[in-house]
Amino acid sequence: MSKTKLYEGKAKIVYTTDDDNQMLIHFKDEATAFDGVKKGKIKGKGIVNNKMSCHLFQYLERYNVPTHFIEQASDNEMLVKKVEIIKIEVAMRNIAAGHLCKRYGIEEGTDLQTPILEFYLKDDSLHNPLINEYHAYALELATREEVRYFSQQAIKINAVLRSYFHRRDILLVDFKLEFGRLADEIILADEISPDTCRLWDAKTRKKMDKDRFRHDLGEVEETYKEILERTLA
Ligand SMILES: Nc1ncnc2c1ncn2[C@@H]1O[C@H](COP(=O)(O)OP(=O)(O)OP(=O)(O)O)[C@@H](O)[C@H]1O
Ligand SMILES: [Mg+2]
Repeated sequence: MSKTKLYEGKAKIVYTTDDDNQMLIHFKDEATAFDGVKKGKIKGKGIVNNKMSCHLFQYLERYNVPTHFIEQASDNEMLVKKVEIIKIEVAMRNIAAGHLCKRYGIEEGTDLQTPILEFYLKDDSLHNPLINEYHAYALELATREEVRYFSQQAIKINAVLRSYFHRRDILLVDFKLEFGRLADEIILADEISPDTCRLWDAKTRKKMDKDRFRHDLGEVEETYKEILERTLA
């Protein structure tokens, strides 16, 4: 198979394939945080993020959530359907953490009375500002129909994944999704991994995600491996 690098991001490299409608995503061990200010490497992260994403995309497909997943191509590569990424990061929050605490003065770990759906502009140069649906329409990021559709999908994905992790004694604190356009469909793309989700042990509330890297909590590589094992179990 001929591979040409299409794009290299902070966490992944995207390659073309022989099929114009497909791409190969290579998950890197490189990690960044705080808008790329903090850089480092988490040995084995590429494998963990690829395997967890492949597993969860396949699981979501069973609940009629269309995704870009085609197949796990290797330990750290995923074959996907190429989409036109919508420039909105869709976030869901169940427990207060990260920016939510800073922005609204809520104590970390507070259970939210109802999940919060948030949109961020997918533009690193603008530091991914928080937006609402009206920004999305006015800036022509997505149509009303598209926003309604991916909002419903995000709420459904939250319900499905939350109970999936709950059964494994893990709290799904929050997560970020990216959707893309494919013909007249909108499908879930990018990744679902400890880089894009906050996952805490339900009993000890130990952080089992990228916050270990962000805040130098130690045992980063070990915890990435552990959360993968518990997710696949
Ligand atoms: N199925 C897909 N089709 C097209 N592009 C995709 C697909 N899935 C993910 N992408 C895009 O591929 C890139 C993956 O690289 P990576 O996540 O490392 O980027 P990044 O550094 O986070 O930068 P970005 O701000 O572009 O996300 C992202 O731009 C992501 O939006
Ligand atoms: Mg990314």
